[in-house]
Amino acid sequence: MITFADRLDKLPPYLFVDIRQKIAAAKEQGVDVISLGIGDPDHPTPDPIVETLCQTISNTEDLDRHRYGCDNPVEDFPESIIAYYNRRFNVKLNDDQVAITMGSKDAIVKLSLGILNPGDIGIAASPGYPTYNIGHVFSSATTYYAPILRENNFLVDFDAIPDEVKRLAKVLWINYPNNPTTATADLDFFKRAIEFGRQYDILIAHDNAYSENTYDGYISPSILQVDGADEVAVEFFSLSKAFNMTGWRLGFVVGNSTAVQAVKKVKDNIDNGSLRALQFAGAKALSIADEITPKLNKIYVKRRDIVVDSLIESGWLLDKPKATMYVWAPVPERFDGSSRLFATELLENAGVVVTPGLGYGQWSEGYFRISLTYPDDIIQTAINRIQEFSSK
Ligand SMILES: Cc1ncc(COP(=O)(O)O)c(C=O)c1O
Repeated sequence: MITFADRLDKLPPYLFVDIRQKIAAAKEQGVDVISLGIGDPDHPTPDPIVETLCQTISNTEDLDRHRYGCDNPVEDFPESIIAYYNRRFNVKLNDDQVAITMGSKDAIVKLSLGILNPGDIGIAASPGYPTYNIGHVFSSATTYYAPILRENNFLVDFDAIPDEVKRLAKVLWINYPNNPTTATADLDFFKRAIEFGRQYDILIAHDNAYSENTYDGYISPSILQVDGADEVAVEFFSLSKAFNMTGWRLGFVVGNSTAVQAVKKVKDNIDNGSLRALQFAGAKALSIADEITPKLNKIYVKRRDIVVDSLIESGWLLDKPKATMYVWAPVPERFDGSSRLFATELLENAGVVVTPGLGYGQWSEGYFRISLTYPDDIIQTAINRIQEFSSK
């Protein structure tokens, strides 16, 4: 009989599968469903990036255009990454501090495979992106969840991590601007994270997926801006949310060269790199980032204001997030803090899909997430329905 490996049984249910099933069931009952669930940009990838892909894939003079990306690297891409980090964050990177990845989700798991031994501990800030734990599960390591709480502005409280965990942990995963809480971190926090990493010999893995999705003049730093950060830190940058390129599977990891080489070594043995045309397009995206980013952020700011202003009008206590493409809101009191109950009733009675906080771990219970990656009119309709639902 064919059976799954034990490690698959250790995986938590994939959050959005559960939501998809609930949506299908509601539709079957005749509910007109609109979703504010998944954070996948609705606007297309900007034209110059798409044009670069088309031109380079059809360039018959490039005899390597169809071949394995790992053996036929496009030098422009790492060069543009180094130039981008210098320009955007004033961070100087050497060639051995850069690895091209197939997006961050993939690379996060590959870093765990590259640095963790069975029985090791990895620390993941919680609530947080579920893939940090999944990388640990695939590496037969265990996860210690470090709660990030509203009273600490959703920042990791390093002192609250037990001594035993500090002693045994090999990696700490953080993510600011944060999914799902929308919290941001300043350089002072990153300095403390680097000190923590140095003191306990723990790699600080900063997932920088939303650094370009910022509003109201806020500019998000890189952890690598901290002096000496590359001794203990790596940073994952994704082109997905910054440039509307989720389906392209393109990103990079930069910083500590041992950790970067670990990712490269896993990649050499698992994937064969990204198509050359994708690498050319990635270089293009980074080179025109300064033009693209403000335009994309204007779209999200408008949507954020629609959502937050309406929820405040309906009695919610909320601040306007200055980063990410989400709104993180408390579940109304009558649901007794149950995000699952709230999300289910909202779907069944108002036909609106939001992501229940519980999907991001026990520390996010009592909250739900709205994604701003849907057209304005859909967001407006959904918010009207939420207002009506919450007034009942
Ligand atoms: C915090 C965080 N990290 C990483 C990712 C994955 O991004 P990518 O498309 O680069 O795999 C996401 C996607 O939603 C995310 O929210």
